[in-house]
Amino acid sequence: MHPIPSQLVIDNGNGDEPMSNHSDNPHFDDVLNAHLSRRSALKGSLGASIAALFGGAALTGCATTATGSASGGKLIGFKAIGVSNADTVMVPPGYKVQTLVPWGTPIMGRMPAFDPLKNSGADQGMQVGSHHDGMHFFPIEGKDPYSGSSTDGLLVMNHEYVEPRFMHASAVGQKLSADAVPALVNGKRPADECLKELNAHGVSVIHIRKGSNGEWAVVADQFNRRITGLTPMAINGPVRGSDFVKTKYSPDGTRTRGTLNNCAHGVTPWNTYMMAEENWAGYFINKVGANGRTREQSRYGVRHNESRPATSRYGWELADSGADEFARFDVSAKGANATQDYRNEANGFGWMVEFNPFDPNSTPVKRTALGRFAHEGVVFQPGVEGKPVVCYSGDDATNEYIYKFVSKGVYRKAAGVANGALLDEGTLYVAKFNDDGSGVWLPLVFGQGPLTPFRFNSQADVLVNTRLAADTVGATRMDRPEWGAIDPKNGQVYFTLTNNDGRTTTDKANPREKSRWGHIIRWTEAGNDPAATRFNWDIFLLAGPEKDSQFAGKPLTVENIHNSPDGLWFDQDGRLWIQTDIGESNQNKGDYAQFGNNQMLCADPRTNELKRFLVGPLGQEITGVITTPDGKTMFVNVQHPGATTSADNFAAGKTTGTWPNQGRYPRSATLVITKEDGGVIGT
Ligand code: FEO
Ligand code: CA
Ligand code: CA
Repeated sequence: MHPIPSQLVIDNGNGDEPMSNHSDNPHFDDVLNAHLSRRSALKGSLGASIAALFGGAALTGCATTATGSASGGKLIGFKAIGVSNADTVMVPPGYKVQTLVPWGTPIMGRMPAFDPLKNSGADQGMQVGSHHDGMHFFPIEGKDPYSGSSTDGLLVMNHEYVEPRFMHASAVGQKLSADAVPALVNGKRPADECLKELNAHGVSVIHIRKGSNGEWAVVADQFNRRITGLTPMAINGPVRGSDFVKTKYSPDGTRTRGTLNNCAHGVTPWNTYMMAEENWAGYFINKVGANGRTREQSRYGVRHNESRPATSRYGWELADSGADEFARFDVSAKGANATQDYRNEANGFGWMVEFNPFDPNSTPVKRTALGRFAHEGVVFQPGVEGKPVVCYSGDDATNEYIYKFVSKGVYRKAAGVANGALLDEGTLYVAKFNDDGSGVWLPLVFGQGPLTPFRFNSQADVLVNTRLAADTVGATRMDRPEWGAIDPKNGQVYFTLTNNDGRTTTDKANPREKSRWGHIIRWTEAGNDPAATRFNWDIFLLAGPEKDSQFAGKPLTVENIHNSPDGLWFDQDGRLWIQTDIGESNQNKGDYAQFGNNQMLCADPRTNELKRFLVGPLGQEITGVITTPDGKTMFVNVQHPGATTSADNFAAGKTTGTWPNQGRYPRSATLVITKEDGGVIGT
């Protein structure tokens, strides 16, 4: 997906947001270019370069469970598949795929059968949400991610956004607005359509079990839950109770309603789930000119009356019922003060949100100490008794930053879910990548360094305006940070930088001058201490076609060319799974055609193998991956199949891509992948 740097066009139709970083901090590509030049001078393998950079310490680490050793110690045993532009899912020989829980699958309450032309907003609240994204499997037996049940558990997944054209009877045959919103009727939207869209957002908790026939199915019981754009949530951490989050709904600034645009996720060391709020800003509109917005609205890209279209992303503020739950998406000041209107509503979004999937009545908590930005996801270092909790989160927008949080208190395994309070107090850092391969974590603490009362009023102010604080301390602008993953064998942290066509700096001597294909960076914390304030970094791979890419000192090949890495996950054996997201405006066009549909690859960072494992159907992105604890069942999400359908084609009744061919339109769904010989996925 490709944000566009325009003051007027806030959204390109798929929800990614335009560049709003106008600081002059050094751009990551400047640093990358310098670093790659130095690396090529080393003339060694990637491993040798790393050893040179890190004094040989980086590739050694703690031992871990190795279920993959059953295959003789070789982590990757499958045959790489080719690229594909077919409207189907491709996997290597010896693997099979089941499709599970497509959007609209009933999971609770009245269990309303899926019928997009008849289902009400309330029905959607009892069904699986739309646009599946980050996901985790929580074994029910034992709750231990590496020894719990591999046949019975909670599949918990995010739902990033919706396509109203596939959701409502009113959309049939209609041409669509730039944001895929059906035409307005007398300038309004039917309230139940808005409710349905809000209820298709959020998270699904789905109890699933493997049957004796080897197929997985939904278990309709009390575990199942929908968290939506309307679910009451607590605001915790330094922003709680501050003026920034006081609204008519919560005059004391302690609560808000709902979570939106939940992209990737995280799993805490105490086995709770965290959802990231990514491209939330466009869901709100302040009906003043661009310069009349608050500084936090402006820096994050909340829409205004000169935006085109001049509505929020889905126009929920235009619901014909006029109810507050919809009207709140208009954040213009209207009443005498902030407790009489929703001028602060957008400040309740942009956070990481924690909840306990095993307690269907638990209240999700917005953990404000982790900062406010377009959170792609969050990844935690393993919990260590008596040590602080450390996690990382990227801000996926053009030229934004990578952050780290270190808790003030320490992890105690026996405290269980009460460890969640550790996420309310600690230090938020932002990354600065130096061109000598070193890096530093810059603290975002009110009163420290340049974060003075001249610029900020409080830590709440620093956090609500995390991007401005990061600008102020001089963080490194990055090429759209997406998922992070931590190597279980040595604690190295990997992050995808998906692409960046909004970059203005160029270096003609470097093949990555446009950052069209994306890359993956990794770093090791100083002294292998996750709480360290310094690190050493390197480039793991430069994605792209054979003639414009690099992995382990060589170009990518027909077995592994790919573009726009996004999803990223290490399994417990140390396989790195890489998922791609070529935006729908580029898929299978021009020189993007050589990559085919979006795909998933598998890497072994120790042997420098990289093979294409899966290719999805037309129009989608592959995002979200997890296995059962035994590694023998893998769940992968397919998001927005058929999204390449143009508005004209839609109005003409033609859809580009119909996968999974269950119903009138394409539907996001989960793939269940197993090996025919019953082995570990990847072997
Ligand atoms: Fe939701 Fe940055 O992908
Ligand atoms: Ca993503
Ligand atoms: Ca993406």
